[in-house]
Amino acid sequence: MRDGRVLSNVIATQTIHRKYGGVVPELASRAHHKTITDTVDQALQDAGLGPDEIDVVGVANGPGLMGSLLVGLSFAKGFSLAYGKPLVGVNHLDAHIYANFIEHQERYPAVALIVSGGHTRLVRVDGPFDHTTMGATRDDAAGEAFDKIGKMLGLEYPAGPEIDRLSQGGDPQFAQYPRAMIREGLDFSFSGLKTSVLYDLKDRPPEEVRASLADLCASVSAAIVDVLVEKARRAVGEAGVGTLLLSGGVSANSMLRARMATMAEEEGIEIQVPSMIYCTDNGAMIAKTAEIRYREGLVDDLSLQPYASAAD
Ligand code: KG4
Ligand code: ZN
Repeated sequence: MRDGRVLSNVIATQTIHRKYGGVVPELASRAHHKTITDTVDQALQDAGLGPDEIDVVGVANGPGLMGSLLVGLSFAKGFSLAYGKPLVGVNHLDAHIYANFIEHQERYPAVALIVSGGHTRLVRVDGPFDHTTMGATRDDAAGEAFDKIGKMLGLEYPAGPEIDRLSQGGDPQFAQYPRAMIREGLDFSFSGLKTSVLYDLKDRPPEEVRASLADLCASVSAAIVDVLVEKARRAVGEAGVGTLLLSGGVSANSMLRARMATMAEEEGIEIQVPSMIYCTDNGAMIAKTAEIRYREGLVDDLSLQPYASAAD
């Protein structure tokens, strides 16, 4: 990233977890450890920069899996020390929010909806890093619901993108799944949906499940998307802001994007969504957030620590 422009964005995807139907923390940190040097080398090469030409080292230090965070943070500290570059720690959730400002002007105040594999959260953003949580999931995250239900449907992990693809040819009214807490506050709950789909699938012969896969996927997507859209509508209304920032892996979902666009039109608000590549986890969003933090004078040092959860 230079002056707000992305020079390179290298993503090392870990496929090992597919076999297990979810992320295995120990395998994640081992894979991180194995690929981090090559990934950073590649990013520098794509950008046409030497390590000494970097101004600031940005690194995600939480929330996340401790082993993986330690690998990234240790590498970043080593880089910062070796080349004498300032170190800036970035909160992973903040990075999803600020991913919006890679391609769009920064805009405040706004409400951000972060929907990823680990988080579902509505945040009021009054200025750079001036955040107030308005609501969050009480159990599963939206992406987790997509992934777990996908596993029940026999799809590979992470199932979100495949459910999205299959949904496009399906009938969202085919099965009626619950929209938990849709009229109630700004918190979310997706674990009941998972149970409801589990029982529904038990009642259907396997050949029917196979034959109606697209319809089932569309019904699941609609149940998740309905809740996300209604809560976002309410949050924007309550906060009295004119901008909604959509972010996190699930914001790549086509039904969600389309339904949010309609809602934005109905409510007369602006909606910002990053390009697909900046929705799911990526280095550019960390760099963008580090750039804004550095600009705001928020610089760390070698005592920077990783943290596993937002509450730590
Ligand atoms: O933000 P992200 O890359 O990683 C986390 O921080 O969790 O989000 C990954 C999540 C996974 O649960 C994945 O299934 C979901 O985002 N996802 C999608 C789509 N693309 C990724 N869910 C629904 N539709 C998609 N198109
Ligand atoms: Zn993420």
